[in-house]
Amino acid sequence: MSIFAVVDLGSKKIAVAIVRRQKDGKLRVLSVHHQPSRGIERGRIVNLLEASNVLKEAVEEAERNGDLQVNDVYINIGGKDAEMIQGTGRTYVVGNAISKREKRRAVENAGAVSLPPDREVLHILPFVYIVNDMKVEEPEGMLGNSLDVKVQVVTHSNIALRNLEQLIKRVGFFPRKIVLNHVAVPEALISEEDREAGIMVVDMGAETTDVALIHRKMLYRIFTYEVGGRDFTKEISVKFGITMKEAERMKIKHVSLLDEEDESGSISVSLIDGSQRILTYSDLTSTILPRAERLFAAIKQDIQSVGWQLPRTNGIVLTGGGSQLKGLREYMARYFSSVVRLSGPRNFQGIIDFPPDYRGPEFSLLAGLLHFTRKMEDWEDRGESFIQRLGSLFRKK
Ligand SMILES: Nc1ncnc2c1ncn2[C@@H]1O[C@H](COP(=O)(O)OP(=O)(O)OP(=O)(O)O)[C@@H](O)[C@H]1O
Ligand SMILES: [Mg+2]
Repeated sequence: MSIFAVVDLGSKKIAVAIVRRQKDGKLRVLSVHHQPSRGIERGRIVNLLEASNVLKEAVEEAERNGDLQVNDVYINIGGKDAEMIQGTGRTYVVGNAISKREKRRAVENAGAVSLPPDREVLHILPFVYIVNDMKVEEPEGMLGNSLDVKVQVVTHSNIALRNLEQLIKRVGFFPRKIVLNHVAVPEALISEEDREAGIMVVDMGAETTDVALIHRKMLYRIFTYEVGGRDFTKEISVKFGITMKEAERMKIKHVSLLDEEDESGSISVSLIDGSQRILTYSDLTSTILPRAERLFAAIKQDIQSVGWQLPRTNGIVLTGGGSQLKGLREYMARYFSSVVRLSGPRNFQGIIDFPPDYRGPEFSLLAGLLHFTRKMEDWEDRGESFIQRLGSLFRKK
C-alpha cells in the first residue's frame, strides 16, 4: 500500500505520478505520465466512461514506464460545487502531553458540522490551535488541560464526489482520497511566509480558473471560474473562422499582451473554408484581451467583496497551462496593481525525484497533490486506522 498513484484529471490533460512513501515519510516519484484527457469539461465529469478509460490508460502507462503496479489513487476535484465554513472543536487532555491523537480528535470534532443531505465534508483544515486559552503554532508535545482548534471545513456535492469515486472504481482502482484543486495547488508554489502574509493563487487551466486566497496560515476563500486558456483559443477560432488547432498555434506563437510588442506584424492563415487571410498580431491580441479582462474583473469583484486587500499581501502567484500566454503576467500585474509571480512547482520538500520536465506551470496541481498526499499520510495514524478497519470487520450489521 506504500505505492500509489496521484492524478490530476484536468479538462485538457491528465497527469499521473506513481510514488512510494518511504519510511521517513518522504514521497519518492517512481514514474510520471501525462496525455490529453477526455470526458471532462470545465473541470466536471461529462462522460464517465470516457473519463474512466482515460484514467485507466494514463495510470497503466505510468505503471509500464516504471514497471510498477498500483491499486490506490489520489485524485483532484474542481471547486465549482465546493463551499467553506468555519468550525471549532475542543478536546480534553488527560494525563500526558498532547499527542497526534488528541490533535486529530479536536480536528474531527471541529469538522462535525451539520450539513444538508446533498453535501459532504471533503477537508477539515486546521489553522489555529489553542492550548488552555493560549494560541500555539503546534500543540503536539505540549502540556495542557484542553486543546481547541479552529478549522476551515471544505464541503462538496456528494453526487460529484460519488461520481468521481465511481469513475475510479469502474476501472479497478481504489479511490483513496479526493482533493480539492484549491487545497492542493498552493502547496508546491508558496512559502510559509506567503501563507502568513497573505497570497492569492490563480491557476488558469484550459477550461477553468481556480483562485485561492490564503492568509494567516488559513485557506480564507476559494473561487472557481469557468474560463481558461481554451476560451482564448476559441475566441480566435470563431472570430476568424479558423480551426481550433490553428487558432491554438497562433495563440501560442503570435499573441502577446505586452505593451511594447510590435503589433503591426502580420501573418497569413488558412481559414476553415480553405481561403487565406492576413491577420495582424493586434487583430489576435484584441480578440483575446476582452476575455481576459472579463475574467480579471470577476476576480477583482469577488476578492473585493470578501475584503481582500491585495497591496497588504505578498501579491499574486499565477500558474496553470493558460498562465503561459505571453504578457498575461504583466497584464495582470497592471490590472490588479500588484506583484504577480508566474510559477510552476518549486517547493519539493519531502518529495524526491520530481522530474525536471514536469516543472512547468501546467503541473503545479500534480506537484501540489503530492505535497497534500505526503502530509495526509503523515497525519494518519496508520496503527489506529488499521484497528478501526479491523473493528469494522467485526461490527454487527
Ligand atoms: N505557451 C502558451 N501560451 C498560451 N497558452 C498556453 C501555452 N501553453 C499552454 N497553454 C494553454 O494552457 C491550457 C492547458 O492548461 P492546463 O494543462 O493547466 O489545463 P487543465 O489542467 O487540463 O485544465 P483545467 O484545469 O481547466 O481542467 C490550454 O488551454 C493551452 O492553450
Ligand atoms: Mg488544471
